Amino acid sequence: MIIAKEIQTAAYLFASILFILSLGGLSSQESAKRGVLYGIVGMIVAIIATVLGEGVSGQVYIIVAIAIASAVGLMLARKVEMTAMPQLVAILHSFVGLAAVLVGFGSYLDPKTHELTGAAHSIHLWEVFIGVFIGAITFTGSIIAWGKLEGKVRSKALLYPGKHAVNVIALIACIVLGFLYAGQEGTNGMLFLCSMTAIACFIGVMLVMAIGGGDMPVVVSMLNSYSGWAASAAGFMLGNDLLIVTGALVGSSGAILSIHMCHAMNRSFFSVILGGFGNSPAKGEAKAIEGEVTALNHEEVAGLLKEARSVVIVPGYGMAVAKAQYPIYDMVQYLRKAGKNVRFAIHPVAGRLPGHMNVLLAEANVPYDIVMEMDEINDDLPNTDVVMVIGANDVVNPSAQDDPASSIYGMPVIEAWKAEKVIIMKRSMSAGYSGEDNPLFYKSNSEMLYGDAKDSVEKIMSFLKA
Ligand code: TAP
Repeated sequence: MIIAKEIQTAAYLFASILFILSLGGLSSQESAKRGVLYGIVGMIVAIIATVLGEGVSGQVYIIVAIAIASAVGLMLARKVEMTAMPQLVAILHSFVGLAAVLVGFGSYLDPKTHELTGAAHSIHLWEVFIGVFIGAITFTGSIIAWGKLEGKVRSKALLYPGKHAVNVIALIACIVLGFLYAGQEGTNGMLFLCSMTAIACFIGVMLVMAIGGGDMPVVVSMLNSYSGWAASAAGFMLGNDLLIVTGALVGSSGAILSIHMCHAMNRSFFSVILGGFGNSPAKGEAKAIEGEVTALNHEEVAGLLKEARSVVIVPGYGMAVAKAQYPIYDMVQYLRKAGKNVRFAIHPVAGRLPGHMNVLLAEANVPYDIVMEMDEINDDLPNTDVVMVIGANDVVNPSAQDDPASSIYGMPVIEAWKAEKVIIMKRSMSAGYSGEDNPLFYKSNSEMLYGDAKDSVEKIMSFLKA
């Protein structure tokens, strides 16, 4: 069955509206489920309208391929842990990039496109070239981002002399290859297209390797944006309006998210999208850490909590790993019933996903009114008796404020050290995601409580109740 062009256009328009409603829904936790539903329906409409459109043949094969891919996708999505979500997102971005590259090559080799003449031919050639360029950068950049998030590639920024010069030369080489390619007849430009693809793959690797662990949140949202533009470019190559619109929606929303994240982390947007270009290099030697590390046991921590009037909990990635949000909320309820002022302090990039901590706390039914943003709570910390840092590290690292040699210097952090007492709950003295040591652990008012966060909170709770 083949549907008429007019019906396909109407279906595309309907799907575009659903995608816009979906983005709108995703803007708040209350409406997020509805947003996802709009997205699913929009995608089903889009796929049906495309597969049944004029000029498409072999529908049976396409349906079988979709069924297999959907089964794999469903299995992966059900299996993946919340903590591994960013890796999954990164690898999915790489698929979009690869798809844009393949569509570009397919379109270039398609005999029909060689019947085009004059301006239409030139425009098509440049569409293919730019689409493949963006796709290749997205493809390899996302694979490196996946490696960094999965811990397979070191998270520290790759720094070497002449780094920016190499990137600029690679970019100029791509532009030159573009003009050489566009001047060729038929498929004679294949060599130039392939050479540019190889260089763009290299640029993708270098751009993401140059970003330090602390700045990875921006890279993830930026690759999200790139994958949107890659899809949009594929839409131009295929003459598919819906793909152009959807790609542009993803591209621009990813760019807006990246700008917000850069703002939250006090980073320059252009510096991050250009692989750290314009970043002032770390200044001087890393500051020597002074002080001694001291530790408490669970009973002693319970004793401190019993005496405290105000408690602030700073959760981080370790809370997600330990799935400690449920016992933490039990403990919070217990302390609040005992008349203590207990609140959460959330850093915008705590965990590994935008809003990661908010989602986990909402899952445990923590009321929104005791969940404070970093800017709302920092001024209250000097008047707080106990700050419990649970599985967080980079987001409470004072080096971000006072060590210009640190890779996270300049990032706003939760000023936990200003409280009367700080309890840091983690399993060891290991560094956070950025790879930077944390002088907070050595401060005179800090105490470590070693162990898995969930296990520790449960033990503290049993001493509180005793
Ligand atoms: P991190 O700096 O990654 O520190 C988490 C700490 O949790 C680790 O030091 C680890 O120490 C501890 N931990 C791990 N498993 C634990 C467990 N089962 N029980 C107790 N502790 C455990 O986390 P953060 O402070 O949330 O900062 C987030 C970092 O990730 C930032 O650098 C941020 O830029 C980056 N990042 C964020 C995002 C987004 S969008 N949020 C995306 C990518 C990267 P031990 O091993 O000693 O236990």
